[in-house]
Amino acid sequence: MFDVESIRKDFPILSRKVNGKPLVYFDNAATSQTPKQVIDTIVEYYSKYNANIHRGVHTLSQEATDKYEQSRKKIQAHFNAKFSHEIIFTSGTTHGINLVANGFSSILKKGDEIIVSALEHHSNIVPWQMLCERTGAILKVIPMDLEGELILSEYDKLLSPNTKLVFVNHVSNALGTINPIETIIEKAHAVGAAILIDGAQSSPHIKADVQALDVDFYVASAHKMCGPTGVGMLYGKESWLKKLPPYQGGGEMIAEVTFEKTTYAELPHKFEAGTPNICGGIAFGAAIDYMNTIGFEAIAAYEHELLEYATAKLLEIEGLKIYGPLKDKASVVSFNLEGIHPYDVGSILDKLGIAVRTGHHCAQPIMDFYKIPGTVRASLAFYNTKSEIDALVEGVKKAKMMLS
Ligand code: ALA
Repeated sequence: MFDVESIRKDFPILSRKVNGKPLVYFDNAATSQTPKQVIDTIVEYYSKYNANIHRGVHTLSQEATDKYEQSRKKIQAHFNAKFSHEIIFTSGTTHGINLVANGFSSILKKGDEIIVSALEHHSNIVPWQMLCERTGAILKVIPMDLEGELILSEYDKLLSPNTKLVFVNHVSNALGTINPIETIIEKAHAVGAAILIDGAQSSPHIKADVQALDVDFYVASAHKMCGPTGVGMLYGKESWLKKLPPYQGGGEMIAEVTFEKTTYAELPHKFEAGTPNICGGIAFGAAIDYMNTIGFEAIAAYEHELLEYATAKLLEIEGLKIYGPLKDKASVVSFNLEGIHPYDVGSILDKLGIAVRTGHHCAQPIMDFYKIPGTVRASLAFYNTKSEIDALVEGVKKAKMMLS
């Protein structure tokens, strides 16, 4: 029995009102809410041991360093990386992707090919386009079908010995599609290509095992997993991280500096120039602990129940269309009311205290594919309830009545 009422007590924000109504927070794919266990970790850091890490002999610096490195180990264990130095702290998924894209600037040659998918977020498109501009590599796209799934037979046709890199998200932020990444990774490796999986939207729902997946790079953000914004992680296989050049130069990423030559620090520090988001990194570990205490299997099962309930209730509304798979996806419902702009629906829902995202969700190619300006996206988390879904359904009905 999933005790959602007791879980909700961990999230202070869930008891606030918005526009005089109880907050119904369905914008979890944009950012998740923060439990008091994580908030307490942040308060404790600034109240008790705020200091710079890896730099001081004094007690506070050592305490902060220990907690930060413990957090790296928690992330390593969570994603089952072989070594803790394969986990690089980043400012978020976008930073991780750009770090890898930058690293491949010196590896790719003119005519090499990169494959992305039609389901990508802009952050998994634009850095690769920039990489192509720098290197003369060619970007190819795995197409999608009307159900919001990738057409794998077309992926087969794109793969060749020229394919050097493949980039696909684990879960689509706009539609919730769960991509068959095991197959996608295997096929990329079969032609000798490296592969990065964008786990920004999967990590709140699915515990990825990077060794079992045999993936080369996996990226995620803390703030989608009940952690703070401004921190994330890049997993890279040791062999790849050794091969890639540093992304940024600065303090703490060096072994030795003279004006003639600088040598770089060992992993993971080679990729962590400057003072990092120390508190954020520690709180990321606390967020992972929190989610693991609830359990990813329990989270996935409960969210699936919510998803089925929301899908069935929303589809009862005439003229409402859901985009993307109807089942076996992450708990995201992307929809439109016939003839009504998603922004208008979102504005009415906000007046009712219901937070959804409207627009293209940083995935314009998906909206172009469906020939729509955007969607209303309700993204559900394990702390949401069926009665909140009822409120959403009533709100959408009201919006339809007001806007038709
Ligand atoms: N990528 C985030 C979203 O899907 C911001 O809303």
